[in-house]
Amino acid sequence: MVVAGATGVVGRTLLPLLRERGHHVTALVRRVDRLDCPTSVDDVAVADLLDPDGVRRELRRVAPDVVVDQTSGIGRTDLTDGQRRAARSRERASKNLVAASVAAGATRIIGQSTTAAYRPHGHDVLDEESPLWTDAPGCWGEAVRAQVAMEEAVLTCSDIEGVALRYGTLYGPGTQYAPGGAIHSRVCGSELPVVSDEVGLTSFTHVEDAAGAVLELLAGGEPGAYNVVDNEPAEATEWLPAYARMAGGPAPVSLTLEQARTQLDWLTVHQLTEQRGATNFRLRETLGWRPKWPSWREGFADLFGHWPG
Ligand SMILES: NC(=O)c1ccc[n+]([C@@H]2O[C@H](COP(=O)([O-])OP(=O)(O)OC[C@H]3O[C@@H](n4cnc5c(N)ncnc54)[C@H](OP(=O)(O)O)[C@@H]3O)[C@@H](O)[C@H]2O)c1
Repeated sequence: MVVAGATGVVGRTLLPLLRERGHHVTALVRRVDRLDCPTSVDDVAVADLLDPDGVRRELRRVAPDVVVDQTSGIGRTDLTDGQRRAARSRERASKNLVAASVAAGATRIIGQSTTAAYRPHGHDVLDEESPLWTDAPGCWGEAVRAQVAMEEAVLTCSDIEGVALRYGTLYGPGTQYAPGGAIHSRVCGSELPVVSDEVGLTSFTHVEDAAGAVLELLAGGEPGAYNVVDNEPAEATEWLPAYARMAGGPAPVSLTLEQARTQLDWLTVHQLTEQRGATNFRLRETLGWRPKWPSWREGFADLFGHWPG
């Protein structure tokens, strides 16, 4: 099989798991020197996904049965102009990868998506049938539309089985929640408050569970979209103070919605006050998948060395 995005936060976690299970793994990378450990794979293919000829040539050479795309989607709190452009270019990258996978004779492609793209509504957690927020304001709308186009490239090609794994907010080693990451710095610098009068929900996904879901979907499971999240969608007023405590940071300050709107960027306010969680029911019921980290509570504790084992 081929893993694109092998140097990313989920790709790095996935490679050893695939090898442990006896898969023949080719890492598709832009630069070989970005691979942590070239011996963790059987083969390396070098191509930029934005170069259709290069991807096609490398995939034909490798002739994989399955192609896993772990190049990153949206789901971040800090989208810069460059990252928004990168999100848009993913549509092209995905189309190139799907076309090259079909030409190489692959039977399944598994892409990375996110539950952050759901339109917030009601107080419930959202399932895979919930609408994606394609008309969200400003740059978030752009990012969601790019994400939808990426999913469509993977899910609507009739010549290959397409799976979109919609991850929740990723945490664990190497993510923004790890010591030194962007969220860690914001929490420890008292830059991420709780908002007292409106409470958003976050569904978290440990990177090990993100990688574990790929293993489940390699051969089994109907094509389509699957939420890959833990069992406990968390209110911002709960997970943020708990995270700050475990990280050894100050307790978050509390703002009113009006104060938050004047002091924080739109996306952060959205996440803290109106974002909805997601349910992993489909993955649990159809494939018997169980997250290794069923709750962010244990996962955060493990991240900061407070979890036995
Ligand atoms: N759902 C979520 O919350 C979510 C999802 C994803 C990421 N994140 C966050 O984003 C941060 C970075 O994550 P990440 O390491 O996965 O993302 P990343 O740094 O953007 O890496 C994504 C992977 O895609 C590869 N890639 C990007 N464009 C490519 C192209 N045109 N052709 C071939 N390969 C390409 C990168 O290769 P190179 O090594 O060559 O750059 C890298 O392997 C983390 O803190 C993570 O928590 C969050």
